[in-house]
Amino acid sequence: MRTLVVHESMFGNTHRVAEAIARGIAPFGEVTTLPVSQVGDADLSGYDLVIVGGPTHVHGMSRESTRRSAQEAAGQSDSTVTLEPNAASEGIREWLASLPPTHGMAVAFDTRIDAPALLTGRASKGIGKKLRHLGFDLIAESESFLVDKESCLEDGEEIRAERWGHSLAQQWGHSRRQPR
Ligand SMILES: Cc1cc2nc3c(=O)[nH]c(=O)nc-3n(C[C@H](O)[C@H](O)[C@H](O)COP(=O)(O)O)c2cc1C
Repeated sequence: MRTLVVHESMFGNTHRVAEAIARGIAPFGEVTTLPVSQVGDADLSGYDLVIVGGPTHVHGMSRESTRRSAQEAAGQSDSTVTLEPNAASEGIREWLASLPPTHGMAVAFDTRIDAPALLTGRASKGIGKKLRHLGFDLIAESESFLVDKESCLEDGEEIRAERWGHSLAQQWGHSRRQPR
């Protein structure tokens, strides 16, 4: 099984979640984890499963303006967050918009504040929708991993992400055994 995990991350949480998901999948085969700025024009059809995640900004995927706000927040003297090396790059929204129609299996995730999704929104909803429009079959419901109000990953979320990755790989194996 060949898996690609693509992530966007301003403060490092979605990056950590992406690495944890990859650890959960690793027993099942080869996993590549890349920040969205480094995916370039990789041939996605070469992967059995493509997993795409980003932070929730203003109820959905980030935009140039929200990434700028995040950079400004990180620059405040009382800031508790630090910027990822790739934070200034384009986000998942722009990358997905640049992709040609494709096929294969995919799934979406996000990070968002620990509160009801109706209030916070969730980037994975838009990511999943776009993946489907591109031609991917979504093998599972999208998932959110939660941060506190200081944008710090809640306890236990990395473990949960690892287990989620593990269950995705099992589901992928199961879907291959179903008669078509
Ligand atoms: C500009 C901005 C807007 C945000 N808007 C939301 C939001 O609408 N809903 C939410 O749950 N979290 C929101 N957040 C919190 C982010 O979801 C959180 O910082 C992110 O998940 C952390 O991921 P990262 O460390 O990978 O950047 C926002 C954060 C920023 C900087």
